[in-house]
Amino acid sequence: MASDAFQQERKILDRGENLLAEGGECDFKAEYKKLLKGYKKLLKVTKRVIRVSDSNENKLKSLHSKVTKQQEELEETHKSLEQHAEALEGRVENRTKELVAAQEKLEKLIEMGIALSRERNLSRFKELILSGAKELTNADGGALLLRTDDDNLAYELFDVDSLDLHYGGNSGLEIPFEPVNLRDAESGRPDYYNLFTHAVLTERTINVANIQESKDFNFDNILSFDQEQQYRSQSYLAVPLKPSRGEVIGLLLLSNARVKGTSRVIPFSEEMAGFVEGLASQAAVAMVNQQLVDSQRRLLDSLIKMLSGAIDAKSPYTGDHCGRMAQVGEMLAQAACESEDGGLAEFDMNETEWREFKIASWMHDCGKVTMPEYVVDKATKLETIYNRIHEIRTRFEVVLRDLIITKQNALLGGKGDPAKLQAGLEEKTAALKDNFAFVAECNVGGEFMDPEKVERLKEIAKITWERHFDDRLGLSQDELRRVEKLPAKPLPVKENLLADKKEQIIPRPGGKVPYDTEKHGIEIDVPEALFNQGELYNLSIPKGTLTNEERFKIQEHAIQTIVMLDRLPFPKELSGVKEIAGCHHETMIGTGYPRKMSDGEMTIKSKILAIADIFEALTAADRPYKKPKTLSESIRIMSFMRNDQHIDPELFDLLLTSGVYAKYAKWNLKPSQIDKVEISQFISQEQSGDR
Ligand SMILES: [Fe+2]
Ligand SMILES: [Fe+2]
Repeated sequence: MASDAFQQERKILDRGENLLAEGGECDFKAEYKKLLKGYKKLLKVTKRVIRVSDSNENKLKSLHSKVTKQQEELEETHKSLEQHAEALEGRVENRTKELVAAQEKLEKLIEMGIALSRERNLSRFKELILSGAKELTNADGGALLLRTDDDNLAYELFDVDSLDLHYGGNSGLEIPFEPVNLRDAESGRPDYYNLFTHAVLTERTINVANIQESKDFNFDNILSFDQEQQYRSQSYLAVPLKPSRGEVIGLLLLSNARVKGTSRVIPFSEEMAGFVEGLASQAAVAMVNQQLVDSQRRLLDSLIKMLSGAIDAKSPYTGDHCGRMAQVGEMLAQAACESEDGGLAEFDMNETEWREFKIASWMHDCGKVTMPEYVVDKATKLETIYNRIHEIRTRFEVVLRDLIITKQNALLGGKGDPAKLQAGLEEKTAALKDNFAFVAECNVGGEFMDPEKVERLKEIAKITWERHFDDRLGLSQDELRRVEKLPAKPLPVKENLLADKKEQIIPRPGGKVPYDTEKHGIEIDVPEALFNQGELYNLSIPKGTLTNEERFKIQEHAIQTIVMLDRLPFPKELSGVKEIAGCHHETMIGTGYPRKMSDGEMTIKSKILAIADIFEALTAADRPYKKPKTLSESIRIMSFMRNDQHIDPELFDLLLTSGVYAKYAKWNLKPSQIDKVEISQFISQEQSGDR
């Protein structure tokens, strides 16, 4: 519209200019009218323009006002949004902190769950539960109580950090509190008034914000502790230890939760209680498992000790060998662990290895259960289940009676000079008695049987006697089986005074040993027969009282130990028991049995048992077959064995230098056996030279 006005104005002005330029005459009036008309128009247009302009200004004003208002509103909104965002940011930050704290607690809980499942030591396990719960809740105090068979809650651990009070467990301090009875002492009814017993009886967590204000339970025991210790218990959390199945096994107590990093006491939050419940539940399951494992372990240990005791009890000839050998073995092993010298510097055993070693020492002679007692205890050459010298003596008696009868018959028949007959009888009787004395002496086995003695035995054996009775009557099935293939001789029959009969050779059942010698690395020779009870054979034993078969039977106990232990399904951590126990008769140079091992093949643990076995046997005072040796005699013999490389020299030295020999002697030997031992005389030359 404004542009129209400007155009009109320009038109009028242009016309005026034209008129002046033309210079001609003009109708002024008409021109004026035209001009006036033009101005009126212009005015009109201008007014219109002004009107329009005013209207636009108003509109603009209104618009501006609207914009300003909207801008103000926007600013308000922005401000509000900013405030809201700030508040939200604060909340998010707090929540994040809470979540981080919760995550940390969860991580701690998981960590503890793993630690609990790994911990094999029950005492450390209990400490872990309490310290973990205290850490989770930042509690000042805590206690762990376990339910006993007589319905008491017995304190296992008790802590109040701010008082520096720690009882039970690693503290080594006895807990000064009496067990809490789940039942009222007077009425015998379950005690629901006590905070502790209530939690256990109802199997529920009890969370008390402030016991000073709460009237829910009887807090007398807590308050009297407070008074005594000038302490102020406030918040309390009692969480029963309940496995997923079965009854509550104990109680986890926490007191005075605190704001982290301060000593300000606060109630236990529900979140905290939840975490502790989680921990208590894991702990209860793990503890029940632990108790089961522990009771099975105790049962296994008892069975092993029972077996070891049974072997000892089987024969007076072994005395209390297994028990005492285990004792000296453990003492020497301990000394070896503590030693920082030579080949023992690196030697050490952890808890599991100790258990493995102890089981091996208790079981080392378990194979002896397969040894016939008569072999273990064989005191004379003719002994089987009884000493057969009596049987032989009876034969001598028979021979003598026959001589007397022969002489009497000759006298009655007038077939000789009575004096000569008597003299002949006396001479034969004396010879017979001398022969019997010789046989009896051979039977005792005190002296070496040189070839002349064996020859004399053979000569004596040729003497005959007459048997009138069937020797196949009254036999056992085993004996019958051995004679049934042999032809029976018609009676009466002449028998030798001493004999090696076929039926006296007892074959191995199935013709072989009942184990895989190759699998077990058995290197010693196995005699063909199980036993040979031949009289001449036994009486001719060069030294001692044992035949080859019987000596093998004795040595076989080490094989049987290996075989028996191999059959036992020991857990992986005890898998070394067989090797440790089975080598206790090996030497350093392959002269031992049953594997003929050498120094490098034997472990230190086996060598310890080998020395302990010998030391016990030498010093034993409870064997009926030998006079007790003195301590110095025993050590001297062992020093010879060390020189012959039968025992490990370093461990033998340790037996002496550690004082284990003296300590063991004090506990187990008779005072008359304990003499002075100059250990410098016996320890290895190299070592004594070093000193
Ligand atoms: Fe043995
Ligand atoms: Fe032994």
